[in-house]
Amino acid sequence: MKNLLVTGGAGFIGSNFVRYMLDRYDDINIVVYDKLTYAGNLDNLEPVAPNPRYKFVKGDIAHRESVANALSANEIDTVVNFAADTHVDRSILDPGVFIQTDVVGVYTLLDESKNHGVDRFLQVSTDEVYGSIDEGFFREGDPLEPNSPYAAAKAGGELMVRAYHVTYGMNTVVTRGSNTFGPYQYPEKLLPLFITNAIDDEPLPLYGDGMQVRDWLYVLDHCSGIDLVLRRGEPGGVYNLGGENERHNIDVIKAMLSILGKPETLLRPVEDRLGHDRRYALANDRLYALGWEHSHSFEKALEITVDWYVKNEWWWRKIKSGEFRAYYEQQYGHRLKE
Ligand code: NAD
Ligand code: DAU
Repeated sequence: MKNLLVTGGAGFIGSNFVRYMLDRYDDINIVVYDKLTYAGNLDNLEPVAPNPRYKFVKGDIAHRESVANALSANEIDTVVNFAADTHVDRSILDPGVFIQTDVVGVYTLLDESKNHGVDRFLQVSTDEVYGSIDEGFFREGDPLEPNSPYAAAKAGGELMVRAYHVTYGMNTVVTRGSNTFGPYQYPEKLLPLFITNAIDDEPLPLYGDGMQVRDWLYVLDHCSGIDLVLRRGEPGGVYNLGGENERHNIDVIKAMLSILGKPETLLRPVEDRLGHDRRYALANDRLYALGWEHSHSFEKALEITVDWYVKNEWWWRKIKSGEFRAYYEQQYGHRLKE
């Protein structure tokens, strides 16, 4: 592993991963390949911009020629694919773009990686491919029953990765991460949306009864899990990567408000998300067998995250005043009026 292509590296987890890897290893070069959609942001990569082992290339994973150029021009031996459309609510409003990137894009990136003899291909997938579980924990062999257009598209991409391993012998691995939080997360997702709304004393639109359960994973733990699977995962292997921090949404938000010193009266129950999954939960035994451990408790990681948004208004205020306003109106305008 010498020359890594990190696709989607200008997004939330991808940019954290690039910083993590450059800090940790001094013998790898990283090329970030990213389309810079609304969620991609070069501000996220500002801390690594001066590093001579880092380079940025703008491109779409579904564009064959650009992918081929990025692979050959940089002698890429390892691909880590974060690139995706990632927000469940947006996939409900407009599923087509999700199929284009999360299925067609993954296929194109895989196919060109095969043509260029890439040694290792890691697909960053999600616990949402399993669907919802009321009790117990999902294991890697369980059936995939995705419920949202986002989850279905991610499952499609992931199954194509499996097919390239079985059919062509490609050296692939897949991680299925749970709900991730931390610095640089686009403020459409629950925690950054609610933290930044609360800073401005705006209402917090809680879907349904707020009793849905998510398994919260700090972004640096997600990065260390991906690094471990990249290095030690068995070819063709799939690895759950869960935070083992199950919380009801309402409790996560109350904890956040208490750190911020803001009142719970900001909470506004609104019309639920369509097809809303009730609970996600993963068994992580396969990952632990590789030697994984968490670096932060949930409480500590939440404090670090809240503090980061408080101190980095320059980062999120410009996002929230741009394209985001139209999306917010479409997603929440009617909900907040009701
Ligand atoms: P994000 O939305 O913050 O970033 C996605 C990045 O992909 C952006 O930089 C965007 O510009 C880029 N991108 C989108 N379409 C592209 C295309 N066609 N070609 C090239 N680049 C493109 O996402 P995130 O939350 O950092 O998630 C990263 C990956 O991790 C995704 O694959 C997601 O499915 C997966 N994941 C996320 C979570 C989570 O809780 N955030 C949990 C598990 C898995
Ligand atoms: O589980 C992994 C997945 O986690 C990733 O694959 C996705 O890319 C990522 O977006 C995330 O999906 P969720 O749908 O779980 O995350 P989101 O932040 O959108 O919502 C978390 C929970 O909070 C969910 O139960 C819906 C609820 N919610 C969310 C928003 C944005 C609200 O109640 N109100 C909101 O405004």
